[in-house]
Amino acid sequence: METTPLRYAVIGLGNISPYHLRDIAVQPGITVVGFADAADPQTWKIAPEHAAVPRYQDVEKMLRETKPDLVSICTPNKFHHAYTLLALKHGAHVTCEKPMAMTVAEAEGMEAARAAAGKHGGINFSYRNVASFRFARELLAAGELGRLMRVNVTYLQSFLGAPATLYSWRNDASLAGFGALGDLGVHMIDGVYFLTGLDYRRVVGLAQTLVTEKLDAAGVSRPVNTDTNAAFLAELTGGVVATFETTQVAPGYGNFFRIEISGEKGTLAVLSDQPEAIWLRSGASLTKYATWKTDLPLQQLPTDFLGRGAPPTPGAIVHAIRGAKVDFPTFADGLRAQRVLGALLDSMKSGAWQTLG
Ligand SMILES: NC(=O)c1ccc[n+]([C@@H]2O[C@H](COP(=O)([O-])OP(=O)(O)OC[C@H]3O[C@@H](n4cnc5c(N)ncnc54)[C@H](O)[C@@H]3O)[C@@H](O)[C@H]2O)c1
Repeated sequence: METTPLRYAVIGLGNISPYHLRDIAVQPGITVVGFADAADPQTWKIAPEHAAVPRYQDVEKMLRETKPDLVSICTPNKFHHAYTLLALKHGAHVTCEKPMAMTVAEAEGMEAARAAAGKHGGINFSYRNVASFRFARELLAAGELGRLMRVNVTYLQSFLGAPATLYSWRNDASLAGFGALGDLGVHMIDGVYFLTGLDYRRVVGLAQTLVTEKLDAAGVSRPVNTDTNAAFLAELTGGVVATFETTQVAPGYGNFFRIEISGEKGTLAVLSDQPEAIWLRSGASLTKYATWKTDLPLQQLPTDFLGRGAPPTPGAIVHAIRGAKVDFPTFADGLRAQRVLGALLDSMKSGAWQTLG
């Protein structure tokens, strides 16, 4: 593939930014030209190899002076929309963190601006890169489970319940838009679409805030006004029923993201902690064994599949910019998930099912 030189910049130098740099800056022909973050540059998370990259606290000035071809947006959710529009205006392709935006209208505006600018837009749905998720997707597309019957998804974390976890933008609805629902739920929503290709027809949900205050860095107690727990039900294409639960306050769970899918010929499950294995009972094994068996055996992924490697996420956009046909989560995927989030918020307010598209 042609390695056109590309100038690359990052906006928001917090926890997720090193992953963007790890996947993008290491690719051939990439020059990291600028960093921008509203906070004191001394507090930014910069690896030693990027210590000399020019640092700005003014995002617009950074874009104007460094003229990047590609920008990663790694700020709190509230700023994804404005910085995407600004980066596009300055002629850059954009890869943005999830959830894409605070509202459906914002996400629609981002996709419209991207299309008008003729640029690529990526959303970092990072689980699309996990080998077991990609393998499960291939099995399902090949019809290994037959017609799909049911989906169950859990995404459980505990971090917010820990006293050592301080108040942050994630606990402020005006900056985050959502709590567990937008932070973890959006991975569940995209994950089911990625694995099955089934879209969301209608949804209904409930959310709760079970940890209602946190201490900030100064030791002051601050109210948490985002959801710490959410549960929802979806009807997918073809009438398939999917159930979802997510929380940031389940003691004992670090990062437990599991998707289970049954079809008429078998059941499979993938788990974030086991990226090279899949729980699967299907096809031939169902005729070989009695179907009353309730255990789902863990199988290691075939080494030839693992050997094929994966497009780096979020770095796959670099290949797209250079003209390769690559499968990566786009703004259209971000918008699809945002519409489901928006419908869930409406449902949580009204108590009623919300129909999509
Ligand atoms: N894909 C994933 O799995 C994944 C994982 C973690 C975080 N995220 C997403 O990444 C984004 C950032 O999360 P994080 O954990 O890195 O947060 P963080 O708090 O560690 O970092 C955010 C950074 O943005 C900066 N910032 C805040 N307001 C700004 C502004 N107005 N202009 C410029 N910079 C500003 C902060 O100073 C901070 O350095 C969020 O959208 C989050 O949902 C995604």
